[in-house]
Amino acid sequence: MKMKRVLYIEGDGIGPELMAHARRIVDALAKVDWLQGEAGFATFQAKGTSLPDATVEAARSSDAILFCAVTTPPNIPNYKSAIVALRKELDLYANLRPFQTLPNIALPFPQLNFAIVRENTEGMYSGIESMDGDTATATRVITKKGSERIARFAFEYAKRKGFKKVTIVHKANVLRLTDGLFLSTAREVASSYPSVACDDALVDSVAMRLVKQPQDFQVIVTTNLFGDILSDESSALIGGLGVAPSGNYGEKHALFEPVHGSAPKYAGQDVVNPTGMLLSTAMLLEHIGEKKASEKLQSAIRKCYELGIRTKDVGGAAKTSEMVEKIASLLE
Ligand code: NAI
Ligand code: MG
Repeated sequence: MKMKRVLYIEGDGIGPELMAHARRIVDALAKVDWLQGEAGFATFQAKGTSLPDATVEAARSSDAILFCAVTTPPNIPNYKSAIVALRKELDLYANLRPFQTLPNIALPFPQLNFAIVRENTEGMYSGIESMDGDTATATRVITKKGSERIARFAFEYAKRKGFKKVTIVHKANVLRLTDGLFLSTAREVASSYPSVACDDALVDSVAMRLVKQPQDFQVIVTTNLFGDILSDESSALIGGLGVAPSGNYGEKHALFEPVHGSAPKYAGQDVVNPTGMLLSTAMLLEHIGEKKASEKLQSAIRKCYELGIRTKDVGGAAKTSEMVEKIASLLE
């Protein structure tokens, strides 16, 4: 097998330290050809752009991208968020967030395992807004093609991971045309996956059921805005931002990143949770064909939690580096 090329973008704040830990773990598990890309606020300050063309080109030529987090300053007009721009450039249409509880975190539902597949390019975030006098309008674009490919992604994922059911989440009773199209298209896709059950539900009731009975769900597939909200809600169910991983997939490219941001106030303090970053790294390893390495990493992370070694955000007292040391020693 040819060595896979992985572009890594460490970003800002806690990004560089978490990226260093992640790369060290990957190097202990697999051979990859690392390539560094620059993006984010520090890059903007040095080069006048948050996403240099060279980074986009490197992203296009790599097998996968490992991204940590970038700072987006609120007070610079027309500042382009590097990650939002990169997702767009690479047409990363599927945002996948798995939610699996880890041992030894005090949680209301200690045994959850489900995933949200969010459409990442259209819907309410199509970027079409206008102002007419005192009326502001956002255009919510739903296409048959966009709905098809996201539904197919969700069913393929369910099949690959052994999930038994996909729930299509929408608001077609009110958004009759847009979510009507999303729902009917996703149902059509469902009919070519007879081994995976399919149901659908209204987004407001799903928001409630996620708090009350999250065990009801296996794979949720939904449009951009709904997926954004439901997935942040769901990260609270597994212990918060520090432990939540994600993958962004397109036809040709894939980018893996923790759900959290650059948490600048914790930069350089060795206190943040490395789990979200390392679980995203495990998703990357699986994507580049290193399934065994991915499983080893996931199981080392679980064991580390079983031993009660975890950072403050999830009730422990370990430093970031202590947790990573332990995880490294548990890889076999
Ligand atoms: P944030 O996720 O960076 O931090 C919010 C809070 O979550 C932190 O204060 C901390 O209490 C907690 N937290 C985050 N990561 C953690 C970890 N690994 N371990 C333990 N606790 C953790 O979000 P915030 O403060 O809204 O944004 C900070 C910067 O990050 C902003 O510039 C924002 O634009 C950017 N951001 C970037 C993202 C990306 O690159 N994908 C995503 C979200 C925010
Ligand atoms: Mg969000």
